[in-house]
Amino acid sequence: MLAAEELVKRFHSRTGLITAVDRISISVAAGEVLAFLGPNGAGKTTTIKMVAGLIRPDAGQVMLDGVDVTGRPAQAAARLGAVLEGSRNLYWRLTCLENLIYWGTLRRLTPRAARSRALELLRLVDLEDRQHNTVQTLSRGMQQKLALCQALMHRPRLVLLDEPTLGLDFASAEAIKTTVRQLCQDGVAILLTTHQMDVAQQLADRLAIIRSGQLVLTGNTQEVLARYSRPVWRITAVEPFSASQQAAARALGWPIEQPTQKDFLVTPPENDPAAIYQLLDALRPAAIRLVERHQADLAEVFQQVVAEEEAAL
Ligand SMILES: Nc1ncnc2c1ncn2[C@@H]1O[C@H](COP(=O)(O)OP(=O)(O)OP(=O)(O)O)[C@@H](O)[C@H]1O
Ligand SMILES: [Mg+2]
Repeated sequence: MLAAEELVKRFHSRTGLITAVDRISISVAAGEVLAFLGPNGAGKTTTIKMVAGLIRPDAGQVMLDGVDVTGRPAQAAARLGAVLEGSRNLYWRLTCLENLIYWGTLRRLTPRAARSRALELLRLVDLEDRQHNTVQTLSRGMQQKLALCQALMHRPRLVLLDEPTLGLDFASAEAIKTTVRQLCQDGVAILLTTHQMDVAQQLADRLAIIRSGQLVLTGNTQEVLARYSRPVWRITAVEPFSASQQAAARALGWPIEQPTQKDFLVTPPENDPAAIYQLLDALRPAAIRLVERHQADLAEVFQQVVAEEEAAL
């Protein structure tokens, strides 16, 4: 659905020309969520604005459902919905419903179709009872949800979401996540930018991490998490391990750490599924509360990837 190739964007700054986006290529298939991640100033919003046709790339090309975004902006806009950082195309003195209907007719829906689509979307994000309230009377989170409705009015094929759940309460954030999943089921492609790694991990099929304008990691979310998971086991007991139990565990000769008196972090020999039983035997008869293998979460992956890059610079 989206294929952005070798995008470049430079800005003039007081210190000279800076390359905010340096030959970034990303793609998103229909029905897929790509989480586009990176530290502050990495170039995420700049990339998304080029994808949305809001700023012109210095080099590279964006194809949206076969349409060149720079060359045919109107056709591209018909296929695109965006909720961008800080910008709300909402009229403060119009009600929720009026805003959506107005926007829908701009996007060439008939007033009747716009109205029914608007009500459908307001229901989806649980704002139906606010339909006649003006935007200025809504909370920030409600405005965020309304902005999402607006982006979806014309049934876009690609939706760009820049920090869609920032500052939302639990229920509202869940509503947005559910909406994103439903969109995917309907074959919509989603490009998601967020600093909330748990949200990205829950939603993303694939990841693209950028730093200083360059891609530093791409891949399937589950594959990346598996790749960054270490062969470390945590064993937690109910009571502190006795001196003889600790000695028996260390006698196995494996790399071992003891973050607390009740915890071992051990790295058993790889490719030996029975190894963990040797350790449990050594710890007899301690009452064990937890045995788990380390599973990386996206926050750890992100920190590691960004730190690796820093070290390489
Ligand atoms: N209009 C502009 N003029 C000059 N520099 C800009 C402009 N827009 C962005 N930049 C610079 O480009 C770089 C990338 O900014 P961008 O907003 O794309 O980052 P981001 O990844 O979205 O960061 P954040 O996580 O903070 O939202 C930054 O160094 C920023 O200062
Ligand atoms: Mg940004």
